[in-house]
Amino acid sequence: MRIDILTLFPEMFAGPFDHSIIKRAVQKERVEIHIHNIRDFSKSKHRNVDDYGFGSDAGMVMMIQPIADCFEKLKSERQYDEVIFLTPDGSLLDQPMANRLSLKGNLILLCGHYKGIDERIREHFITMEISIGNYVLSGGELAAAVLADSIIRLIPGVLNDESSALSDSFQDQLLSPPVYTRPADFNGWKVPEILLSGNDKEIRKWQMEKALERTRERRPGLLKNKGLQQID
Ligand code: 6GU
Repeated sequence: MRIDILTLFPEMFAGPFDHSIIKRAVQKERVEIHIHNIRDFSKSKHRNVDDYGFGSDAGMVMMIQPIADCFEKLKSERQYDEVIFLTPDGSLLDQPMANRLSLKGNLILLCGHYKGIDERIREHFITMEISIGNYVLSGGELAAAVLADSIIRLIPGVLNDESSALSDSFQDQLLSPPVYTRPADFNGWKVPEILLSGNDKEIRKWQMEKALERTRERRPGLLKNKGLQQID
């Protein structure tokens, strides 16, 4: 997979992709991440990337030219499966959406700022608009990093034990059961006996019960989607 990210703040991506699973995915060449500074595509004297919006409550709006030129350059080099705009009024990111996107080849992520971007960019280039939650961020960068992380870890061969993505919270629409490690007794706080029993079948049953219990308590809406709400 290749992910191209267009941003006014490329430095914001220094951290998120340089550690842990995503770093390893890049090293293993399962994914290429390319960060593009939109300002580098500005043709104006002062490298402007925004201008006053037309109309009355005219805040600053991201201009069409630098973004259009960057898109055109990338699209002349390869085909893209989706051109995604990160925006609070997009579709809410969830696990099924991350799963679907992890099967794609090439993605562009556009990070917005200021009051918004010239609507013609959305009309003519953008194929998907995604939000990461019902709150407002200062810009699309953190959302793009969240989206990219959620996708990259699902690319085949990225996680060592591929089954571990399958047992993630949300992957089966259930929250994960509690997990423990040694010591089995920490100052009197004991690990549930069943987990020490060696009885694999009983342990799986316990984990499923705990996953259901936790989901019912914390996120009953997830069970509603599965039609499982009545199970005790
Ligand atoms: Cl994608 N962008 C911004 N600015 N705020 C958000 C968001 C995106 N998703 C949730 N809040």
